[in-house]
Amino acid sequence: MENTILIEMQMEKQVVNTKSSPFGKTPTDHMFVAEYKDGAWENARIVPFQNLTLSPLSLCLHYGQTVFEGMKAFQNADGGINVFRMEKHHDRFNKSLHRMCMPAVPKSLFFEAVTQLIKLDADWMPEDAEGSLYIRPFMIATEERIGVKVSDEYLFLVVATPAYQYYSKPLNVKIETSYIRSADGGTGTAKCGGNYGGAFYPTQLAREEGFDQVLWTDSIHNEFIEESGTMNAMFYINDTLITPVLSGTILDGVTRDSLLAIARHNGIKVEERQISYNELIKAFEEGARVEAFGAGTAAVVAPIDTITIGHKAYKCNTEPDAIMFTLANALYDIRKGYAPDIFNWNTEI
Ligand code: COI
Repeated sequence: MENTILIEMQMEKQVVNTKSSPFGKTPTDHMFVAEYKDGAWENARIVPFQNLTLSPLSLCLHYGQTVFEGMKAFQNADGGINVFRMEKHHDRFNKSLHRMCMPAVPKSLFFEAVTQLIKLDADWMPEDAEGSLYIRPFMIATEERIGVKVSDEYLFLVVATPAYQYYSKPLNVKIETSYIRSADGGTGTAKCGGNYGGAFYPTQLAREEGFDQVLWTDSIHNEFIEESGTMNAMFYINDTLITPVLSGTILDGVTRDSLLAIARHNGIKVEERQISYNELIKAFEEGARVEAFGAGTAAVVAPIDTITIGHKAYKCNTEPDAIMFTLANALYDIRKGYAPDIFNWNTEI
């Protein structure tokens, strides 16, 4: 299709300060929508943010064909707006869609949907230095039929919301060994709704025990770290940045990838490999200053304060001189245009 995007403007702009609202509660004024029918994308448009009308028979409501992305845009030092790593987000979106038997979104449609929406709702960009616009492209299966099948019809939407810090304090996490998030051959690497829905119950149990999040372990040994609720897991132990390898069961996180690139560029030793909780115990017991943190678009770099393994809580290093903060600051500077965009990650709109 030609990407002619019709725009229907919101008559009354309603920018509100959302700093104290929960993450993702307040949408910007507009949203992008396109429909997939008869093998093609059509009717691409930006309209005032509004509810969807869906038949109760829509397949997404029954069999979980839903995929999403999470991206961010930042006010840059020149007063313009940088959208961060559109290419990688688009690529991951299409990989997730492929895994869920859903149609790809052409790059030009994805890029235009995001850039036009963010341009139109640029007033919603938070003025605070730490604020950004969180962008949520997503797709749902809309064919009306309750029989179990791959949908032939879809909606591709993009919405946005002002975003601030996702976690307000360093996290207390537990190593989860009873439940798993994903297994070899499953959907663990796809950003599909079911992965998140399936994680709620064990996470809720962990919350009842007083933890903020779980650190998932592998499905075979329940020993090797996978990722955390909304983020990839990273560790800095004995001068090495270690993160679980992309084995097919964890998300190929854009923040993860960005922090690894920055670390390598700065000469930090990086290892993408399996890491077991026994290795963590050994490091803690040998007195190493272990840093542990989550890396994700919404969470950015989320320091972990304690890791509970079995019944023992191990304290991680969250001092201001921790490497995770150096990496987080370097990422921040690139995204905001305070440091040169040496990796070509920003799309200025
Ligand atoms: C993100 O970090 O963008 C995510 O998708 C995680 C969460 C908000 C669901």
